[in-house]
Amino acid sequence: MSPKPNTAPVFHDLAPELAQFAAEVHAGLAHCPKRIPPQFFYDAAGSALFERICELPEYYPTRCEVEILERHAGDIAARLGTETLLVEFGSGSDRKIRLLLPALAPRVYMPIDISKAHLKQAARQIARDFPNIAVHAVCADYGELRHLPHHPPGLAVTAFFPGSTIGNLEPLAARRFLHRIAGLVGPGGWLLIGVDLKKDRAILDAAYDDAAGVTAAFNSNLLRRMNRELDADFALARFRHRAFYNEHAGRIEMHLVSTCAQTVRVAGRTYAFGEGETIHTENSYKYGIEEFAQLARGAGFATREVWTDAQTMFSVHLLQVE
Ligand code: TRP
Repeated sequence: MSPKPNTAPVFHDLAPELAQFAAEVHAGLAHCPKRIPPQFFYDAAGSALFERICELPEYYPTRCEVEILERHAGDIAARLGTETLLVEFGSGSDRKIRLLLPALAPRVYMPIDISKAHLKQAARQIARDFPNIAVHAVCADYGELRHLPHHPPGLAVTAFFPGSTIGNLEPLAARRFLHRIAGLVGPGGWLLIGVDLKKDRAILDAAYDDAAGVTAAFNSNLLRRMNRELDADFALARFRHRAFYNEHAGRIEMHLVSTCAQTVRVAGRTYAFGEGETIHTENSYKYGIEEFAQLARGAGFATREVWTDAQTMFSVHLLQVE
């Protein structure tokens, strides 16, 4: 069989509306303590800043995960077979999937990302470079996605969820999300997932508060975005970036700290901040290998393999629906 190469990706636009951004910001700023869900980091500027984070000397997760995928792409492919639809959640940069596609050779590759321009650009490149793989790009908040917009009969679904993004959810929400992925891939289906490991505090603190201030810029870009899209008036100089490892909770916390008492207007409403009050913008939970296997088991997955980098900083788990 020689399928006719089709090098143009299909694009499915399920991006959240501006109204949803506004609603989530209002709900989060009315909450005590104040918080904003992390998917809104990723506008065009935020996605570009995140790519720079991935290149930082302090930010080890990307390098470690790439090392693991490079070394084990063959093992992974041997398990999964090729009659597959490969879904990637929060694809962002295409660097990691490029390590897998030559070995995995799925029939369909479906990157899902909330950052539209970024996604389109990456999907076009992939479609050009892998003409035998049908590319269906989906712009969506994958936390909201209930079914795949395209699923040719006969293709098994495999999910790829890199970057330890699972750690950005509370453990309970993480289990619920994994359970939903289990439903998407179905009985016998696979999930390949990157999970950052618990480790020395100094390494963690540095990874989320780099010397060059790129993570700080990424964090405060959220304020810029609200100013631009929600007609807000955050004074950037009056908030500072704070990130630290909360060992008790097993997570990195990232905050924007108000440096003085102030009020801020956002889309017609006013919010008061005390000096030192924070907006909690992100968590990044770290797991032990067995701890994560247990979480996955609670969502219906059996652990088939776990790989780590040479320094045991990061892990990649191959899970199968039981
Ligand atoms: N999934 C990434 C992580 O938890 C997201 C991330 C990395 C991140 N660095 C960040 C999010 C800095 C916000 C700010 O590691």
